[in-house]
Amino acid sequence: MCQSCKEKFYITTPIYYPSDKLHIGHTYCTVATDAMARYKRMRGCDVMFLTGTDEHGQKIELKAKEKGVTPQQFVDEIVAGKNGILDLWKLMNISNDRFIRTTDAYHVEAIQKIFKKMYENGDIYKGSYKGKYCTPCESFWTESQLVDGKCPDCGREVTDAEEEAYFFRLSKYADRVRDLLLNTDFLEPRSRVNEMVNNFIDPGLEDLCVSRTSFTWGIPVDFDPGHVVYVWVDALFNYVTALGFENNQYGDYDRYWPADVHFVGKEIVRFHSIIWPAMLMSMGMPLPKKVYGHGWLLLDGGKMSKSKGNVVDPQILVDRYGVDALRFFLLRSFPFGSDGNFSNELLISCINTDLANDLGNLVSRTVAMVEKYFGGQLPEEQLSDPMDASLIQMASQLPQLYAQQMEHFQFQNALAEIFKVLSRANKYIDETTPWILAKDPANRPRLARVMYNLLETIRICGALLAPFMPDTSAAIMQRIGAQVFDWDSLQTFGILPATTTVMAAEPLFPRIDLEKELEALEALRQASHTPEAPAIQVEPQLEETVDFDTFCKSDFRAVKVKDCQPVKKSEKLLCFTLDDGTGTDRQILSGIAKWYKPETLVGKTLLAIVNLPPRKMMGRESCGMLISAVHTENGEEVLNLVMLDDKIPAGAKMC
Ligand code: ME8
Repeated sequence: MCQSCKEKFYITTPIYYPSDKLHIGHTYCTVATDAMARYKRMRGCDVMFLTGTDEHGQKIELKAKEKGVTPQQFVDEIVAGKNGILDLWKLMNISNDRFIRTTDAYHVEAIQKIFKKMYENGDIYKGSYKGKYCTPCESFWTESQLVDGKCPDCGREVTDAEEEAYFFRLSKYADRVRDLLLNTDFLEPRSRVNEMVNNFIDPGLEDLCVSRTSFTWGIPVDFDPGHVVYVWVDALFNYVTALGFENNQYGDYDRYWPADVHFVGKEIVRFHSIIWPAMLMSMGMPLPKKVYGHGWLLLDGGKMSKSKGNVVDPQILVDRYGVDALRFFLLRSFPFGSDGNFSNELLISCINTDLANDLGNLVSRTVAMVEKYFGGQLPEEQLSDPMDASLIQMASQLPQLYAQQMEHFQFQNALAEIFKVLSRANKYIDETTPWILAKDPANRPRLARVMYNLLETIRICGALLAPFMPDTSAAIMQRIGAQVFDWDSLQTFGILPATTTVMAAEPLFPRIDLEKELEALEALRQASHTPEAPAIQVEPQLEETVDFDTFCKSDFRAVKVKDCQPVKKSEKLLCFTLDDGTGTDRQILSGIAKWYKPETLVGKTLLAIVNLPPRKMMGRESCGMLISAVHTENGEEVLNLVMLDDKIPAGAKMC
């Protein structure tokens, strides 16, 4: 069939931020997309599978600054350097057809044209972005970025200010997007539709700020220097620029757009199901056929992060168990639309039960029996029996049942269908008792047929495993002497030549000793907590001195916490009622809510400076300041309240 007659299938992953090393959670979506792309190729479709990296924005600019390199150098290292994102996708055997980097010149050029088009059609307009301004630092901040109401960089007072910015008329498209979500299958799973409509659209969609002037690492708005395009506008349009939209790099836009499906994690469904269609509507472009919001892989019930250690490092897991086992585990263990809790125990049990036992054993036993009873090649003369019917029927129906699940991205169910047949095949060995048949040469034709049925079942299951475990599937085919395993060949039971020759080899998946392996992984996890560079940093000491009299003017006292409450609408502040020994309660507000639960502090003896002038925070007066020790741990600031011995009475002066 010529390429243009084939049904096309365009599938994408999100483009990843190259701000840190990717963990196993990041590979989840890419592995799922890869399985889907391979499945569609197996069905004979003309597939375009796109992934890439989202390289602009303030976060990257800041990280590069911390490392003392340019943002471009920073992203080049993480994307294309040793063990970078490109290497990770090679490691995971990802078969993407294209890889986009948003710093690619063709993408930059296209985004500038797209931004201008929306400006010219009136959907992007110039307005102002209201916030707080720190004049000495020349920085805009939002209310929530302030620390104790002050500039988070220098600690000085901020003033109300406005920054000139471009806005996209998102509000104009609210009704059309609402209709799209509620009345079509654009967004799946369905549960995500209500979340979008109830939480974001119905409370009122505001126009979206789509340019920034406070940092420079972005695509410049070419008709208004000083503005850079908001990173999400830059990122979302990757799905069309990578096909050649508004650029000459590629010429595949007409062939592949609209996309058949965008796979995205649940926290970015909002961008893909509200902002993305609205911008496409503004551009007069067709909408993607579907956005599928998958769940997260959790670790200990929470989102994965670097600080939880290296057990979630895909490189380590692949080194220990092989890439196919990891790919299989990800899609076999959790329903794609829901969250799933990753654990080493679950991973190892999955390898032992499904791969070593059900699949691996069936292949090894069958091949070993063909070797033992027939010297590796089955004879032409074979004898069927009515007891074969149930296995043959299940194996014959499998491709269709599997396809139904794959078409709906239900990877877990598709694999479950395969494993039902594998178990049936294992049971068939027990029912047919080949070792008893082998005792009588008269049973040779019957024994040959039993072996053939097993090999043919393995062929169908092995071929359908290819999208999930490409190398394992090829290894299975080699062992059973199968040459062809395209989709058409799976529609008939009996394709394998009767006189096929098998090839014995190592077990596909050796069994893992669960207990020993868990211990080894725990040791690795602990070792990963030993940082290469000092993970804990303290502020450099000041060279400036302060004379003794000035120092003595600071009145430090022991204070006892009588009550401690969170401050409404503030994520940072706790409000303390303190006994300072004067007989009158003292109120101090402190920005330490991130590190302490208020109720755990009641009764503690703390250190406060009590002769600072009173200060208003979030409408409340704070009379003094609690003293904390501050340091940075794994790049994050940590505050520890200085706690005194409870024997020290309230009001005791520190000297
Ligand atoms: O969001 N389990 O990039 P990103 C499952 N650049 N998926 C996870 C995960 C986990 N534990 N952790 C992360 C961005 N992900 C944007 C996308 S698209 C135009 C721009 C998924 O690197 C996450 O849900 O922060 C998201 O889909 C993807 O990794 C990329 O995340």
